[in-house]
Amino acid sequence: MIDRASVADSTPNLRNWLSVAGAALAATSGALFLAVFLLDLFGFHTNPYIGILFFIVFPAFFALGLLLVPLGAVLERRRRRAGRPPSELHWPSIDLNDPRQRRTVFAVALLTIVNLLVVSLATYRGVEFMDSVTFCGQVCHEVMRPEFAAYQDSPHSRVTCVECHIGPGAPWFVRSKLSGTRQVFAVLMASHERPIPSPVEDLRPARDTCERCHWPEKFHGDKIKTIREYAADEKNTETVTTLRIHIGGGSERLGIAAGIHWHMNVANEIEYIALDEARQSIGYIWLRDRQGNIREYFAEDVTPGQLQGRERRRMDCMDCHNRPAHPFALSAERAVDSAIAIGEIAPTLPFAKREVVAAVKATYPDHTTAATGIAIRLRDFYRTQYQQIYASRRQDVERAIRAADELYRRNVFPEMRVGWGTYPNNIGHMAFPGCFRCHDGSHATRDGTVIRQECDLCHDFE
Ligand code: HEC
Ligand code: HEC
Ligand code: HEC
Ligand code: HEC
Ligand code: HEC
Repeated sequence: MIDRASVADSTPNLRNWLSVAGAALAATSGALFLAVFLLDLFGFHTNPYIGILFFIVFPAFFALGLLLVPLGAVLERRRRRAGRPPSELHWPSIDLNDPRQRRTVFAVALLTIVNLLVVSLATYRGVEFMDSVTFCGQVCHEVMRPEFAAYQDSPHSRVTCVECHIGPGAPWFVRSKLSGTRQVFAVLMASHERPIPSPVEDLRPARDTCERCHWPEKFHGDKIKTIREYAADEKNTETVTTLRIHIGGGSERLGIAAGIHWHMNVANEIEYIALDEARQSIGYIWLRDRQGNIREYFAEDVTPGQLQGRERRRMDCMDCHNRPAHPFALSAERAVDSAIAIGEIAPTLPFAKREVVAAVKATYPDHTTAATGIAIRLRDFYRTQYQQIYASRRQDVERAIRAADELYRRNVFPEMRVGWGTYPNNIGHMAFPGCFRCHDGSHATRDGTVIRQECDLCHDFE
């Protein structure tokens, strides 16, 4: 008679299939993680999405493997306690001297290598695709259409979406994937917001995105900008404003740390509390300058209750440059002005400014209807009001129609409820509050010092 208990104790409980499989899984994923981690250390990691393999999948499998080992042991012990014989773990015996076995072993090894290659290439391509501008901008094309259209002719059209929206490193990758998954569901359920709200919640601070390419201390000096505007009269009378904008720089070492980029001097810290989601109304500003002086400014009539519980934000590039990659015209008037300035719309066409603005500002359900609507409206105007011009300068009229249609497609997206001026631009102060969210002469310290507003603080007129 065999003593069952003594058999159970004499063979280790780990000798069961589940524990062995767990150990193998843990060892493989551990080794892969280590390999990839070393590659990362030596700078081979270029793609933020690869993070999902590095820091989520491998560790998850590693942990799963480790869990399986004791689980197998527990099940095995139960099995033996229940009086059943210990599981038998027989490894196949392979004899490489036997030509048939040898061929099989080599074939299996070769196929495994090929499989691994194929799977890792496929994974890599998939991950790379998710990283691409095509995936971000076009897969959910209706949703991203406004941002994608603007992106394509922005100064950043060669910078991928993920370089600003995710940046390098695993934690932000996970964060943005989690919210990304939520967004995919929202798109599938058609429950996403229209227009997509701006600012982006939880966008990564500029020092990890913008400042990987741009150096905040760079001395820019002055920038000359010429703005051409056209009146709504028959002659489209032109006015030209030339600004000398004092951008300055963020470091005394390279030039005077004054001017607009004074805000970026790393020694000056500005934090603020906005009263609305769009950060257009600012209630409180905290400043620590490079001498260490602290000043607090309050908006007129703001109460402590209004400030309570709201996000306190460190000012960075994006508080001014909030549309570096998705610029829309400030207004329909401004869009038409620039088309006239570059000759897309002939400045000599009577009332061109007034009529094109009216045509692109009208409401249409979609781009196709808009194209027809704009064309009919402008043709009718010149045919009925300026018959002679309509006859002799038909080409100019048709060119103006094409330009108007393009302005509309580039700036208005009825399906996403994006219209003229939907997204504020924080550079400037004419079309949107911009700089005057703080520099409005009414944000003051308790002793009455206001944030300066003299025009030549920021620019001169030439
Ligand atoms: C140069 C950096 C940069 C690049 C490249 C970039 N974005 Fe943005 N994006 C921003 C900033 C900055 C905002 C505004 C965020 C804010 O104010 O908080 C933004 C906002 C958005 C918004 C929110 C709605 C809005 O218009 O404010 C969407 C959607 C968006 N981006 C999609 C994309 C897509 C799709 C791509 C690639 C085709 C892309 N972005 C490329 C910087 C960038
Ligand atoms: C991957 C690199 C990269 C990143 C990230 C990046 N930029 Fe740029 N940015 C550039 C390059 C390159 C240019 C110059 C484009 C040119 O002049 O052709 C530029 C130009 C600019 C300009 C000048 C635009 C103009 O009208 O001439 C501003 C402003 C700017 N970037 C702000 C930002 C901000 C804000 C962010 C972060 C949201 C950012 N950039 C992120 C590479 C980058
Ligand atoms: C206080 C608002 C503000 C902040 C903060 C700010 N900028 Fe600017 N920046 C401006 C203004 C205003 C201009 C000039 C207007 C323009 O170019 O249209 C400018 C111009 C620029 C230019 C173009 C220079 C040129 O010669 O055309 C670049 C590049 C730039 N900023 C990058 C940055 C980066 C990167 C950061 C963050 C480190 C930053 N800015 C922070 C307001 C700001
Ligand atoms: C969140 C609030 C805030 C916003 C928005 C803001 N500023 Fe300022 N700015 C300040 C504060 C605070 C000071 C320091 C107090 C002062 O100079 O009166 C300052 C100072 C300045 C100075 C003086 C720098 C020096 O040499 O001493 C300039 C120039 C300037 N800002 C330009 C701009 C421009 C241009 C914009 C818009 C693109 C802008 N600011 C937007 C808060 C802001
Ligand atoms: C805090 C900085 C600041 C102050 C103060 C300031 N401006 Fe400006 N202003 C700007 C910036 C930034 C722009 C936009 C430059 C650009 O388009 O790149 C601008 C643009 C303008 C423009 C052209 C606007 C357009 O696009 O049509 C005019 C006109 C102007 N400012 C007038 C004034 C006058 C007048 C004052 C004095 C009451 C003043 N500004 C004070 C920062 C300032």
